[in-house]
Amino acid sequence: MPSYNYTTCFMAAVTFAAITLASASIGSRILKVPLFDVGPMWLQAVRDLGAEMKSVVTSLFEQDTWLCPWTYVMLGITGFCLYVGYYIFVAPLNRIRQKSDLGYVPQGGMSKRDMANLVQKRRVVGDLPPVYPNGWFGVIEAHEVKKGESMSIACLGENFAVFRDDHGEVHILDAYCPHMGANLGVGGRIHGDCITCPFHGWKFRGSDGKCTSIPYADKVPDMAKVKAYPTYEINGWIYVWYHAEGEEPFWWPEEIKEITNGSWSYRGRTEHNINAHIQEIPENGADVAHLKQIHGPILLSGTDIRYMYSKMWDFVKHSWDASWSARTDPDEKHIGSLQLTHNLELFGCKFPGLELHVEARQIGPGIVYLFFNSIFGSGVFVHSLTPTEPLNQKMVHNVYANWTMPTIIAKGYLLGEALQVDRDVMIWNNKRYERRPLFVKSAEDSLIGKHRRWYSQFYSEHSPKLNFQKETLDF
Ligand code: FES
Ligand SMILES: [Fe+2]
Repeated sequence: MPSYNYTTCFMAAVTFAAITLASASIGSRILKVPLFDVGPMWLQAVRDLGAEMKSVVTSLFEQDTWLCPWTYVMLGITGFCLYVGYYIFVAPLNRIRQKSDLGYVPQGGMSKRDMANLVQKRRVVGDLPPVYPNGWFGVIEAHEVKKGESMSIACLGENFAVFRDDHGEVHILDAYCPHMGANLGVGGRIHGDCITCPFHGWKFRGSDGKCTSIPYADKVPDMAKVKAYPTYEINGWIYVWYHAEGEEPFWWPEEIKEITNGSWSYRGRTEHNINAHIQEIPENGADVAHLKQIHGPILLSGTDIRYMYSKMWDFVKHSWDASWSARTDPDEKHIGSLQLTHNLELFGCKFPGLELHVEARQIGPGIVYLFFNSIFGSGVFVHSLTPTEPLNQKMVHNVYANWTMPTIIAKGYLLGEALQVDRDVMIWNNKRYERRPLFVKSAEDSLIGKHRRWYSQFYSEHSPKLNFQKETLDF
């Protein structure tokens, strides 16, 4: 479970509410009195508030109160306000966008879902690189895998049985039992560090996939095993190592100490399901020329790229400074680094106090850690990108922030990020992959070329390609 300091948030909310109520009660008078009278007025206001609360609480114990229908109306309204307050100020964000929610423009009265299917069917996908690169990929957020439970997850062209054993360790095995093909992740029971197949009870060890017992046979054949995938639980994620040639991991995602030691707490998540080749998404980080075009218009003008260039919002813009580079150290060549500064530009002027500095560390093909700093504090977006199908990607962002940052601000940053991604999704869902782009001589376009050369290290000889049936009789 992500660490989350509910007590601090609750105390902050109570203090905030008390100050707001007290200040509201003297607000009209405060400007008309000498400054030295203001302190006693505050004290008096807090005392009045206390007396008021006391009489409300006392009246709750009087029988007449409970006979009056207004009591229940007021309780309902109070409960609703508390829930809304909790939802806005305290609860972590959880925003999910499915594939057909974004980026398609329905025509002729079609539903979004039908339009998404039609675009996918008719789209020219281009001369694609392999669809599953080699590296670590997030299969699921760690808190979703409960001790003693198994689950089935399909991604990277594989079906995985994911389970947390009785000692708390997570294992990822090939889902299909070698006996008669039952899915271990659907109904598989956990015993110690093993998972038992739901069909005939064969038992498989999590660490190496070896079958350790068959209930109705004395001997377990050597061949009785399933593939065990290298698994790594860190930074709130369960990562799996995928390699087309079956090589063992030769680099690992780095630990974010502030998450593991709890000094940065969890404030929410967003999820996008995107119809594009995986490489298009990290490439966006090195594509600095699109920042002004796609991410410049203020978010208030919307995320539909057809309508966001409204004259009405011309006076305010997002401004971006960005640069991308790859690490050169042989041990770190799987890491790329994006430096980004965001600001708001009002009538051409920037506000240094509102600057948000982001260092995005791209770690292999499917993980990015975006460290940010602002006047409210610091934190990180943990970004996970995993192909669920050859041209479908699940992208998740989790946000963690230090104690100085109010949850509503951290959620605001995450939501702002997600809304900016919504704009990218509209491009990604409809474009084709250009293997030979028409680049012009410029620092901007050459950076994309540099990113492609860097990213090609994640493909190998047997990396799977898309077998695409272009013509179909399926109407
Ligand atoms: S299918 Fe798994 S034990 Fe038979
Ligand atoms: Fe973008």
